[in-house]
Amino acid sequence: TWTTASIVDEQVAAIREQVGSKRAICGLSGGVDSAVAAALVHKAVGTQLTCVYVDHGLMRKGETEQVEKDFVAATGVQLKVVDAADRFISALAGASDPEQKRKIIGREFIRVFEQAQAELVAEAGAAGEDVAFLVQGTLYPDVVESGGGTGAANIKSHHNVGGLPEDLEFELVEPLRKLFKDEVRMVGQELGLPEEIVQRQPFPGPGLGIRIIGEVTRERLDVLREADAIAREELTAAGLDRDIWQCPVVLLADIRSVGVQGDGRTYGHPVVLRPVSSEDAMTADWSRLPYDVLARVSTRITNEVSGVNRVALDITSKPPGTIEWE
Ligand code: XMP
Repeated sequence: TWTTASIVDEQVAAIREQVGSKRAICGLSGGVDSAVAAALVHKAVGTQLTCVYVDHGLMRKGETEQVEKDFVAATGVQLKVVDAADRFISALAGASDPEQKRKIIGREFIRVFEQAQAELVAEAGAAGEDVAFLVQGTLYPDVVESGGGTGAANIKSHHNVGGLPEDLEFELVEPLRKLFKDEVRMVGQELGLPEEIVQRQPFPGPGLGIRIIGEVTRERLDVLREADAIAREELTAAGLDRDIWQCPVVLLADIRSVGVQGDGRTYGHPVVLRPVSSEDAMTADWSRLPYDVLARVSTRITNEVSGVNRVALDITSKPPGTIEWE
């Protein structure tokens, strides 16, 4: 029978057999898939697994802390956090083309990950070949899509580590290859991962970097991070997290409009709310959020986030729009 417990038992046995007495590393993105894959491998081989989390400075508010605290508390996994914000933000300086930004982020991600891997090998006093396995949270839909040359496969190449140099010669451990997202969530639950991780909405690997339309700067990231946190807080408070697939908040950093606040004129930037409903992100519809929730988000963002004086709502389905703006 195909119960969640039997999936866990079966995968734990398979992972033990595959990894043996060698070491494995796993890149955590903060998302459900890599978290569940890591938790499974940790259950199977314990301290032979080290997780690496790259903080590229493009994360949302509280995200890095969540990985550091909640995930480690729930699993006891060994975690290496790499603070690479300076590196990513300087690499992104001057770039405003979406594909250029994605490529820069993808490239830096691989470099940092490679470095962390070399450090781990040195720290462990291990020979390179003893760190033989790379854990990935690849799901069944990813397997089906890959090779199809679809947009989705392209998008994913950015932050999965398939671009690692060949001389690293990792063998992949992909315990979620036969599962769909809802099954992955059930496995996560079975493994005792906290609700905040298991029920997390999707978030793109390139993070807030592709939600700032225009050049990415530290100041703009701070502005967007605040606006995004407010939107998430209000959607959660309204009990809407399970109803929507995700709600990107996008900062139109090169656009300004005139507003009035108190007795003064403002000349600030708009943010766009992009709430969508979807089954698998391949197609999506804009979510019909209650007006009072939209009103609260708008009032709070314009009052609390300095530099933002307008909130717009994206009512485009996918297709023709994509979920993210870049
Ligand atoms: P689009 O914008 O293509 O997004 O409609 C579909 C889904 O994929 C997410 N997304 C990404 N996820 N790395 C990821 O891991 C990426 O580079 C990436 N780009 C988009 C997006 O948030 C949505 O859920």
